[in-house]
Amino acid sequence: MFKVGVIGCGNMGEAIVKGLIEKSGIKSTDIIVNDINKERQDYIIQKYNTAGADIKKVVNLSEIVFLVVKPKDLDDTLNPVKDTFKENQILVSVLAGVKIQKIKNLVEKPLIVRIMPNTPALIGEGVIGVSFERETEKKEEVINLLKGLGEVFEVKEELLDVITGLSGSGPAYVFTFIDALAQGGVKMGLSYQDSLKMAVQTVLGSAKLLKETSEHPAVLRDKVTSPAGTTIYGLHELEKRNFKDAIISAVEKATERSKELSK
Ligand SMILES: NC(=O)c1ccc[n+]([C@@H]2O[C@H](COP(=O)([O-])OP(=O)(O)OC[C@H]3O[C@@H](n4cnc5c(N)ncnc54)[C@H](OP(=O)(O)O)[C@@H]3O)[C@@H](O)[C@H]2O)c1
Repeated sequence: MFKVGVIGCGNMGEAIVKGLIEKSGIKSTDIIVNDINKERQDYIIQKYNTAGADIKKVVNLSEIVFLVVKPKDLDDTLNPVKDTFKENQILVSVLAGVKIQKIKNLVEKPLIVRIMPNTPALIGEGVIGVSFERETEKKEEVINLLKGLGEVFEVKEELLDVITGLSGSGPAYVFTFIDALAQGGVKMGLSYQDSLKMAVQTVLGSAKLLKETSEHPAVLRDKVTSPAGTTIYGLHELEKRNFKDAIISAVEKATERSKELSK
């Protein structure tokens, strides 16, 4: 028996294998993988020293199966193995926008867990929203595995749409902010290369400071905002241009779109 089976060895499949081995303490010999693309499957087997097999064997031999294919491939992937799953297994779906009930309609026996990671999960620094079909004594074990991808938040399934709008789409908002910050530096005379490095480190350092001090963002903001100083002039410009309003609306709209897409 293997602890974990991974079906679909693309970007996210690789991130899961890597995170499980490097951060969750799962031995590579406890992982078995499958991909319809044999080159991709062999690449993962060789790079991470895992086992590999056809999809039926992977389902048959794994305690916890990660389903990491594109949503459009859901039916084609699960139909051939729907009778292979057993009652005591767990199926963790990474498929964006695919509801637990839809997977349950395809495979009845395993307990279904749905997760919503974001792209920083590819380097073990993601936000991972997780919803369980029902309570299980294996919850802690699953959450500990997911910690290999980043910070894990258990929520009700309907809140996964909000997680999609906040942390799923969030990296794109942050990349846009970083690019704009760097361009500001260019406008005022820095090279883009230097400006980008400064913008990245400013975001990284500020996020770490927030995390390590556990202070409210407003408290840390006030600490860099001296009376009649430079920061209040910059903040006032952001305020005039509805910076916070734009970001709140971005999360709102992306959440609504996620709800629409998963219908
Ligand atoms: N990437 C992210 O940051 C991210 C974030 C949140 C959620 N997700 C979710 O993660 C899932 C995977 O995304 P991805 O970016 O890793 O996609 P991807 O790179 O395309 O990987 C999917 C892999 O599964 C393979 N595959 C397709 N049908 C299969 C089958 N029947 N049996 C076995 N393997 C099969 C694909 O092979 P072919 O290429 O030959 O089809 C491909 O190698 C998606 O559902 C997505 O919604 C991804």
